[in-house]
Amino acid sequence: MTIRAVVRGVGHYLPERIVPNAEFEASLDTSDDWIRTRTGIERRHFAAEGETTSQMATKAARHALDAAGLEPDDIDAVVLATSTADFTFPSAATMVQAGLGMRGGFAFDVQAVCAGFVFALTNADALIRAGVAQRVLVIGAETFSRLMDWTDRSTCVLFGDGAGAVVLEAGTGTGSTADRGILAADIHSDGRHRELLHVDGGVSTGTTGHLRMAGKEVFRHAVEKLSETGHAALDKAGLCSADVDWIVPHQANLRIITATAQRMQVPMDRVVVTVQDHGNTSAASIPLALSVGVARGQIKPGDLLLTEAIGGGLAWGAVVLRW
Ligand code: UT7
Repeated sequence: MTIRAVVRGVGHYLPERIVPNAEFEASLDTSDDWIRTRTGIERRHFAAEGETTSQMATKAARHALDAAGLEPDDIDAVVLATSTADFTFPSAATMVQAGLGMRGGFAFDVQAVCAGFVFALTNADALIRAGVAQRVLVIGAETFSRLMDWTDRSTCVLFGDGAGAVVLEAGTGTGSTADRGILAADIHSDGRHRELLHVDGGVSTGTTGHLRMAGKEVFRHAVEKLSETGHAALDKAGLCSADVDWIVPHQANLRIITATAQRMQVPMDRVVVTVQDHGNTSAASIPLALSVGVARGQIKPGDLLLTEAIGGGLAWGAVVLRW
């Protein structure tokens, strides 16, 4: 008997305000055509004034709980991946815990920027397999619009806000690749690449700061590292590319998604793509894509999924799971 962390429900929340590419043309030397061709992004959602990461995360979590047929008090732990917590502390996860009305359990944030959801899933899987928790809400939620330098056309057109959540539950498997749940994970970071993608503010400066990115360099690392970690996670699971029903990638740039799928030898009709509607929502992008993929009827119970992401740190990784 093998303990597996099995997905029991998924849900998401997107803020009401949708911003099409054309809206940037008024204030920046950019165009809808440049943004579409270079990134695949057509629109993104921006949080309303006063709308926070923990509020969006709470809404996504409620939808995931509803899909799972569970109540907040059925949950043992909340693991929230974010780089845009409402405050320096407490964690956004404890604010979600309170927002849901949970009276027990524990909650904490995971900070691995765009790779955050992959790191959070890996942590939650370990908690479940170690018997520390039976049911874990794993959330990715971000308000990257609050980190933008609106005069920097090379970054401010790329990002969006939103939240996605899954409920993981301990289940019993046979130890084979036919089991439902998380089958393998592969995570990495390399702090030597800090300057490539960072925010120039924080406790040390007394400011929130703005996101700065060496786009071309990050692009190069992304294509190389995402296919490497994707293959490594499949190897650990005892599977190969041909077994993958869906790649559910971090949604940063359609060209990165396509190049990675090509290197993984997985055709694009087996890749869940949402970047056109959400932009890059950092740690929220994979759970948003999972939720949208289920709602579209793409992801079905029993499907083999490969999720992969890379972001600031650099931090990157992949998780193989059977839905
Ligand atoms: O989620 C974390 C991981 N992040 C990523 O994976 C992002 C990785 N990087 C990328 O997606 C791409 O590098 C970008 C979308 C950021 C940029 O695309 P690119 O094809 O690498 O363009 P570039 O940076 O080489 O810029 C090409 C040109 C430049 O003009 P010059 O120097 O050739 O005259 C830029 O100034 O495009 C210009 N440019 C723009 N033009 C119109 C940059 N941003 C814009 C813009 N509108 N918004």
